[in-house]
Amino acid sequence: MPDLDHKRYVIGLTGGIACYKIAELVRRMLEQGAVIDVVMTEAATHFITPTTMQALSGRPVYLDTWDARIPNSMAHINLTRGADAILIAPASTDFIAKLAHGLADDLLSTLCVAKGSCPLLVVPAMNREMWQHPATQRNIAQLKADGASVLGPASGDQACGEIGDGRMLEPQEILAELIAFEQPKVLAGKRVVVTAGPTCEPIDPVRAITNRSSGKTGYAIAQALREAGADVTLISGPTALAAPYGVARIDVESARDMHGAVMQQAFTADIFISVAAVADWHVSNASENKLKKSADGQAPTLQFALNPDILAEVAALQNGPWCVGFAAETENLNEHAEAKRRRKGIPLLVGNLAQQAMNADDTTFVLFDDTGAHTLPLLPKLQAARQLVQAIAKRLPDRKA
Ligand code: CTP
Repeated sequence: MPDLDHKRYVIGLTGGIACYKIAELVRRMLEQGAVIDVVMTEAATHFITPTTMQALSGRPVYLDTWDARIPNSMAHINLTRGADAILIAPASTDFIAKLAHGLADDLLSTLCVAKGSCPLLVVPAMNREMWQHPATQRNIAQLKADGASVLGPASGDQACGEIGDGRMLEPQEILAELIAFEQPKVLAGKRVVVTAGPTCEPIDPVRAITNRSSGKTGYAIAQALREAGADVTLISGPTALAAPYGVARIDVESARDMHGAVMQQAFTADIFISVAAVADWHVSNASENKLKKSADGQAPTLQFALNPDILAEVAALQNGPWCVGFAAETENLNEHAEAKRRRKGIPLLVGNLAQQAMNADDTTFVLFDDTGAHTLPLLPKLQAARQLVQAIAKRLPDRKA
């Protein structure tokens, strides 16, 4: 099921060059199942045409308080009734000022005052000086105090050629924020460290031993944690995946690198989730230079030494984070997983069958805790991750809650 299935949004465009990006946003939202009514201010129509927005949204575009298409000509009331949110994007300096003062002199501003309990999300887009102006900052603070969510702005190159804060978030980032907005904030304010992906153990500067972990499960969990309001640091072995929006990623290669990065972060974390497929051994006689074939055809002999068990070490910390482990097993899942949970001294271990989970898009998690085994349904990894996050939030002891 797409993430915005059966959700209905009013998107309000106001005057700004970033209007062109809303065409892309509308397409991405429709792919996720959303139904969208577009409302434009007169200024917005100078940057993108209502015809474009109508063709993309597949519905009439509203421009005018006096539009007679809605029964009783009450677009300013009817459009937001039953809507899941109003999204003002791009939100200009002028429109933000209007919102902060409750002005209602066109359809979009009137609709925002008449919205009742419909959530309001505001996505600012303006020049950095306009953003930093004390009046804008006062207005933004007022909008937040009135219960609006302000998304962004981002920092970087601006259409005017200056560099600084005030850029509108990219369409994919706005979409990620909208999807996150729908998720319950069960881990708001918690700091979570997640490991993901494989590790890569060097043999020489050009060769390495690694495993088939894609990182998909760990990345989905990082995204689900962020959607639940957590502050997430993802410590990742080499993968082909992009970091989920809003998640800080630290890239590592070997198990010993991962160990170092985790131990730096663990003391300040509330929760540690060890999803990475960490190599149990590294090559202790790895060569500084590329190994060459010997004349007699003799293959090199590799020697192995044990890697640190990162999860067990974090679980043993005094006042350390609440720990969640993973176990991908090829057989006897319940026996191996529960034994592993006890051996590592952790309150929750998530088991799955390696042959089903590796590189797959769907997964079945079995949760092992002090009360036994609990099987979650087969779901796409992100949805499974969201269920896992709920399960973690329920089990998190008060000390860390
Ligand atoms: N793990 C870890 N450090 C290691 C090995 C594993 O932190 N050196 C973590 C994994 O991230 C996972 C859990 O421990 O959360 C179980 O990993 P797994 O490889 O299944 O367990 P092992 O202890 O290595 O047991 P075995 O390989 O013998 O099944």
